[in-house]
Amino acid sequence: MRIDVSCFSGHYLVRCLKEEDIPEILELCRKNTLFYQYCPPFVSEETILADMHALPPRKEYKDKYYLGYYEGDRLTAVMDLILEYPDTQTAFIGFFMMEISVQKQGIGSQIIRELCGHLKETGFSAVRLGWVRGNPQAESFWHKNGFVETGVTYDTENYTVIVARKDL
Ligand SMILES: CC(C)(COP(=O)(O)OP(=O)(O)OC[C@H]1O[C@@H](n2cnc3c(N)ncnc32)[C@H](O)[C@@H]1OP(=O)(O)O)[C@@H](O)C(=O)NCCC(=O)NCCS
Repeated sequence: MRIDVSCFSGHYLVRCLKEEDIPEILELCRKNTLFYQYCPPFVSEETILADMHALPPRKEYKDKYYLGYYEGDRLTAVMDLILEYPDTQTAFIGFFMMEISVQKQGIGSQIIRELCGHLKETGFSAVRLGWVRGNPQAESFWHKNGFVETGVTYDTENYTVIVARKDL
C-alpha cells in the first residue's frame, strides 16, 4: 500500500526526505541533545543516511516513509514511518523529532493526532513505537498522546527499548 503523505497535515507541507536534505535534518537533530544521551550514538550525516535506509525485518522500501514536515521552507519535524509493521493493521513510528525552537507548543502532539486520524481513515487499527527506558521527554510525550506500554521490551548494547502502542 502507498499512501499520500501530503494529507498527513493540514498545516505543514509533508514530503519524503532525500539524501540532499541530510544537512538540514542534521541541523534539526543535533540540537536535541537529550534524545542522544539516552539513544547514542550522537547524530551525524552517516547515522541519518543509515536511518533513511533502515528497515525492520522482512519489510521493503515501499512501506517506508522517512518524512519531513515543513513550515514554508523550514524543516519542523522528521518522522520515520513504516506501514504494516509488525502486522498489516499496524503502522510503526521508528523516529519522531521536532525542531527544538518550536517544542512545548503542542505542535508535536498535533502532528501525531493528525497522523493517527489519517491512518485510521486509511484502515489501520493501531500505531506502535518504542522509546528508550528512562528518557523522560519521550515517555511523557507518548503517554500524553495516548500510547501505552505493551509489556514488550528489548535490549540493545547501550539501552533498553520500551514498546508501546495506541489503538486507533
Ligand atoms: C518529544 C517531542 C517530539 C515533543 O514535541 P513537542 O512539540 O514539544 O510536543 P508537545 O508540545 O505536543 O508536547 C509536549 C509534551 O512532551 C513532553 N515533554 C517535552 N519536553 C519534556 C521534557 N524536557 N521532560 C519531560 N517531558 C517533556 C511532555 O509530556 C510535554 O507535555 P506538557 O507540556 O504538558 O508537559 C520533542 O520534544 C522532541 O523532538 N524530542 C526529541 C526526540 C524525541 O524524544 N522523540 C520521541 C521519541 S522517538
